[in-house]
Amino acid sequence: MSNPHPPRIAIYPGSFDPLTNGHVDIIERGSRIFDQIIVAILGNVEKTPLFSEAERIGILQHVFKDRVNVKVETFSGLLVDYAQLKKASVIVRGLRAVSDFEYEFQMALMNRHLAPGIETVFMMPAEQYTYISSRLIKEVFTLGGEITGLVPPIVEEQLRAKQAAKKKKS
Ligand code: PNS
Repeated sequence: MSNPHPPRIAIYPGSFDPLTNGHVDIIERGSRIFDQIIVAILGNVEKTPLFSEAERIGILQHVFKDRVNVKVETFSGLLVDYAQLKKASVIVRGLRAVSDFEYEFQMALMNRHLAPGIETVFMMPAEQYTYISSRLIKEVFTLGGEITGLVPPIVEEQLRAKQAAKKKKS
């Protein structure tokens, strides 16, 4: 018997500089709902990222190596063009707090204006991750704060390696 509907493919886009446990939580939730979730790393981020594109791909591939329906890719250009190329019908975004809402609302409506066939779906991470952001992780780590449990172990290891390399240089 043929499949009654085509696979539901979702795109989860972001900078992931670096991946946090909040991102991991959303990807896991998405992978339980959609047939396939493509984690799409924005390649050409405006400011210089701490983690290179290759490092960010490597981290995500490592963390999701056992999840067969999670794919890791990079993209540049318009997100909706990339989503259409991948035949994705859904864009997944995480909503942590009301403060995220305005920016996310604008993006969702702009993406709908550009591609009415693609729906943005918001998902909430577990409460313990609602205050985490990549920016805060970098700041807290740089200033000597504890980030264990807020990022996957591989991210913490790589942050320490970067710090050690920087110390050696100076
Ligand atoms: O992790 P971030 O930085 O919140 O992710 C932002 C991202 C990558 C989703 C957004 O910047 C994006 O979609 N960039 C691609 C360019 C694009 O399509 N811009 C118009 C968005 S309405």
